Amino acid sequence: LKIFSLNSNKPLAQKIANAIGVELGKSSVKQFSDGEIQINIEESIRGDHVYLIQSTSFPVNDNLMELLIMMDALKRASAKTINVVLPYYGYARQERKARSREPITAKLVADMLTAAGADRVLTLDLHAAQIQGFFNIPVDHLMAAPLLADYFMDKGYEGDDIVVVSPDHGGVTRARKLADFLKAPIAIIDKRRPKANVAEVMNIIGKVEGKKCIIIDDMIDTAGTITLAAQALKDEGATEVIACCTHPVLSGPALERLEQSVIEKVIVTDSIYLPEEKMIEKIEKVSVGELIGDAI
Ligand code: R5P
Repeated sequence: LKIFSLNSNKPLAQKIANAIGVELGKSSVKQFSDGEIQINIEESIRGDHVYLIQSTSFPVNDNLMELLIMMDALKRASAKTINVVLPYYGYARQERKARSREPITAKLVADMLTAAGADRVLTLDLHAAQIQGFFNIPVDHLMAAPLLADYFMDKGYEGDDIVVVSPDHGGVTRARKLADFLKAPIAIIDKRRPKANVAEVMNIIGKVEGKKCIIIDDMIDTAGTITLAAQALKDEGATEVIACCTHPVLSGPALERLEQSVIEKVIVTDSIYLPEEKMIEKIEKVSVGELIGDAI
């Protein structure tokens, strides 16, 4: 078994390798002056089961291309199997045609990974679970909910005082899972999205007055969804609002929105690497390194 990391999230790759007790494989990724990616694998992988770790997060297209090129190199170097570990699966939000003449990018990415030689995919909290079915190879779909639940139980967030909130209809199963761990009820925000990256809260299904609310989402991107949801919960009488998500995409105005919002704390995982300047005071991280290491 050999583990290689590409550039998107080396600290997580190191944690995964530590959890398994192996060294990361040696490879180098360079760029030609026009931006083309050039990869060298600096040790033999002939006949090995190779695990390749890459989150296809920002810059999404570069990280995806880096992954595909590395897979090609592994295939040509006679890896026995190529196991793609995607802590964050980019392009997953376009997983169906919501309007006419739209692409289905989650399927396109699945096809590209398969064509590049993936034998197996291991991923975490897909935006929509049915993306597993876009592949004709095995897909291991891990969930961060138990880790997030441990975090909250450690801090005493458990029982009837708490409501776990899904910020939209698509996240209800995820919210129920966390709520089961915390023995808490759920509430759902009836969110409408007039256009991409613009969220608009409609109303709240469930009782949140006088409760501590934990909003759970698969990702926080521009933070529009989560901050609007938090404000709606406060307006309905929630005493405290905490947010959590698996994938801290945190693009555009996200940090400013989180800082200015009524959200007291944001718990995220390290599925996406967050540089120091993005670690604002409200953000706390839990690691998925051991979870992924155990799965490998
Ligand atoms: C959408 O359905 C997702 O589950 C997230 O709620 C969404 O992608 C978050 O995006 P933003 O932070 O830009 O509102």
